[in-house]
Amino acid sequence: MSLAEKTRVLDRLFARSCLLPVISIDDLSDVLPLADALADGGIETIEITLRTALGVPAIELLSRERPTLCVGAGTVLNKEQFQAVQDAGAQFVVTPGCTDTLLQCGLNSAIPLLPGVATASDVLSGYQLGYRRFKLFPAQACGGVSLLKAFSGPFADVRFCPTGGITLESAGDYLALPNVMCVGGTWMAPPALIRARDWVAIRRLSQESVSLM
Ligand code: 3PG
Repeated sequence: MSLAEKTRVLDRLFARSCLLPVISIDDLSDVLPLADALADGGIETIEITLRTALGVPAIELLSRERPTLCVGAGTVLNKEQFQAVQDAGAQFVVTPGCTDTLLQCGLNSAIPLLPGVATASDVLSGYQLGYRRFKLFPAQACGGVSLLKAFSGPFADVRFCPTGGITLESAGDYLALPNVMCVGGTWMAPPALIRARDWVAIRRLSQESVSLM
């Protein structure tokens, strides 16, 4: 698949669902009830991070047991992890930054990559290879809404998924920008609620987020 086709895949994906919960799994038995709570709340796409050792098994489990959910892999830091999440069934990959190796993986992979960027130079390193969709990370800390507005000048055909420091209250300000295709974060499934296995609260937060967008 060419990079232009992968861009179209991402656009279709995020046109359906502009919210991306970022999830880290500490207990594999949480995966299905958590995914069901998010899905019941109207969420169709989730990112499972590799910040814990259960990231890859969780992606594998969800791909097998919840095929209607679109599962992406986050915090992918190297080539080996990129291959592992692709083999586990991830439908897209998100990285916190953009090394040459990761950008190359995204060119050769069967699934799209959203490379992480925080500066204009980061965007250019992917842009020159054909990338037009990026994760802005850490969004709030690196300039947030003002930075995205500034990026719309030089990078008119680029769209972003800002994540990092976004809340239920600020998500709408990001989504109102024409160069934002979706917003991500942990606010829909906060780690404390996952630890407490409060699936009802997570469903409610997802519902609230979906209805606000
Ligand atoms: C990310 O990787 O996107 C961030 O860590 C999201 O976390 P936050 O929403 O808690 O900032």
